[in-house]
Amino acid sequence: MSLPTASQTLTPETIRAALRTKTFGRTLHILHETPSTNTAAMALAQKGAEDGTVVVAERQTAGRGRLGRSWYSPAGENLYCSVIVRQTQSQTRLEEWLSWLPLLSAVAAARAIQAVAALQARLKWPNDILINQQKLGGVLCESNGSRSQGRFVVVGIGINVNTPRHAFPDELRDLATSLAAEAGHRINRVALLSALLSELELCIGNLSAQPSAEVKREYTKLCSTLGRQVRVSLASGESVEGQADAINPDGSLRLIRNGANAGTILDLRAGDVTHVR
Ligand code: BTN
Repeated sequence: MSLPTASQTLTPETIRAALRTKTFGRTLHILHETPSTNTAAMALAQKGAEDGTVVVAERQTAGRGRLGRSWYSPAGENLYCSVIVRQTQSQTRLEEWLSWLPLLSAVAAARAIQAVAALQARLKWPNDILINQQKLGGVLCESNGSRSQGRFVVVGIGINVNTPRHAFPDELRDLATSLAAEAGHRINRVALLSALLSELELCIGNLSAQPSAEVKREYTKLCSTLGRQVRVSLASGESVEGQADAINPDGSLRLIRNGANAGTILDLRAGDVTHVR
């Protein structure tokens, strides 16, 4: 199927004309090709780039996903974007801020998708962006952990925007989707990027100002993992099954285990979740 086109060239001019943010994207690096926008943004942040600096690429040659996976990043179709966020919280809220940042970034992406493509994305814990249980996008946050350079986090977001369903590689075809595949027409990447940066600025600003209960409510509304039977692969290689019961105040997932350990509670801070039913 050939889809109608929408104006969507990522240039400094088109993006600046669409931007509605105070700081996010006001310093903007648009790359034709780069190994990974996250790697490029980390290097810029280490050299002192300011809060809200954004790196966008038309193509990534070594796009990275969570848990050491690669991120499918063909040229000219999708959004690959990394934002430098400098941490200004007092030490007491640092842990909370760091653990919620990836979750809230996924909320921001879902809101931008709703605003621009009129599609309701849902979230799979911790920060996978889904439509109809297929993966539409994801978030990879990386931080420096060093106080001397000022603490920062690079929030990397990938969204499959205009990749046609048939163009996904075989191993992704049944698992992944794109906005164009769902909407039946191409989606303007400039409008989506602008909405994404506005929502990110808002969500991250709120994260600094609100108590965690408020932040959690926002995430919980969109999280389709809650209440489901799930299998979680842990970094240790072990896998656990149970019911996803709640999101804890620190953003971890509360799991009520099945099987031999039925009824015991596990609080998971990381892992790869599969929705079993
Ligand atoms: C995931 O595994 O779900 C996270 C995917 C994150 C991909 C984005 S694309 C922009 C940024 N640069 C990268 O190399 N990765 C992130």
